[in-house]
Amino acid sequence: MTQLYPLQLTVNGESCQLMVDPRTTLLDALREHIGLTGSKKGCDQGQCGACTVHIDGERVLSCLTLAAQAAGRDITTIEGLAAPDGTLHAVQAAFLRHDAFQCGYCTSGQIMSAVACIKEGHARSDDEIREYMSGNLCRCGAYPNIVKAVKDAAASLSQEAIS
Ligand code: FES
Ligand code: FES
Repeated sequence: MTQLYPLQLTVNGESCQLMVDPRTTLLDALREHIGLTGSKKGCDQGQCGACTVHIDGERVLSCLTLAAQAAGRDITTIEGLAAPDGTLHAVQAAFLRHDAFQCGYCTSGQIMSAVACIKEGHARSDDEIREYMSGNLCRCGAYPNIVKAVKDAAASLSQEAIS
């Protein structure tokens, strides 16, 4: 029988107490134990980016991260990106404006990656966006509009920072 261990995770500012197999990935902890299903399981082996979340503000592939590695750190998922009053994050709003998705399966990972990509300063040109977003695959081929959305969001966030 699998031995379960207690684990405390802080997700979107809330403390979550879990009992998990120590081999549980962060993606499974989020989806199966905490019920946050916005982060998607595409390949489950680090190749598609659908499971991207932030740990301490940096993007990680949650399918390749053990839940235990995230203990004591701040985890942000797509569910925690909008403001508490429901105002969408600039990247979410830009994805809607530019129709940057079709089926939507890759979208939460794309958005989490885009937020980090902009913060890292890697959204200065279309080529740079394509390169630094290249770990996020889209089977629907929505890439042209994803690039437009990331560029637009980067511009509006830098405008906000100036004003
Ligand atoms: S599900 Fe994690 S990279 Fe594909
Ligand atoms: S919108 Fe369908 S996989 Fe990207």
